[in-house]
Amino acid sequence: MKILITAGPTHEAIDPVRFIGNRSSGKMGFALAHAFALLGHNVTLVSGPVQLTTSNERIRVIRVESAEEMYQEVMLHQPSYEVAVMSAAVADFSPVQAAQEKIKKKEGQDEMVLHLQKTKDILASLGALKTAEQSLVGFSLETNNEQENALKKLEKKRADLIVMNSLRDKGAGFGHDTNKVTLYGKNGYRMAFDLMSKEELAALLVKEILAFHSSK
Ligand code: CTP
Repeated sequence: MKILITAGPTHEAIDPVRFIGNRSSGKMGFALAHAFALLGHNVTLVSGPVQLTTSNERIRVIRVESAEEMYQEVMLHQPSYEVAVMSAAVADFSPVQAAQEKIKKKEGQDEMVLHLQKTKDILASLGALKTAEQSLVGFSLETNNEQENALKKLEKKRADLIVMNSLRDKGAGFGHDTNKVTLYGKNGYRMAFDLMSKEELAALLVKEILAFHSSK
């Protein structure tokens, strides 16, 4: 099958040397790509700036910088994917216009205001275009009202499944080699996973995602 995955952070340029970013390592997305590839699926992995590489010949990595570039790249693959997993930590807002030259501080300046605009929601855009043959999985990172927020995202973005990380769980989320998630779906579907390595978790998540997809 054709699998489409996003991974990592995005970098939103402020000027030629500065950006707004986040601490996503891309590990979960790369682990998911490997887990699908190990089962013989072909993966397009659209990744923001990360240190990771892969030599797996079933994985085609497309490297992007910004949320807009990630959106454009994902949309090129929108018509042809069968399963899409949006694990990237996409910036929600981006500077309205990146300065052409390095921004210099002015004499006596002690404040700086950046004008930001909302980025396109890639997961929601795929949700709006999803066909009956396509399965769509999103991620959500929560600190409170985890289940309620995850289910809201599932519905609002028209995803089939949401992988919820809670920052209340030690060892879960950004920058860790481990993760602890709960998978939510429609009609009360809920599956909680123990804390484990991102590789182990990716294998279990892929199994669940493929079971969902084949039962459609
Ligand atoms: N996402 C996306 N494009 C964006 C923003 C988010 O595709 N511009 C995707 C992420 O890849 C993830 C899911 O949407 O699958 C996360 O949803 P989001 O609303 O960004 O979650 P939070 O940032 O946790 O939302 P909030 O700020 O509302 O808590």
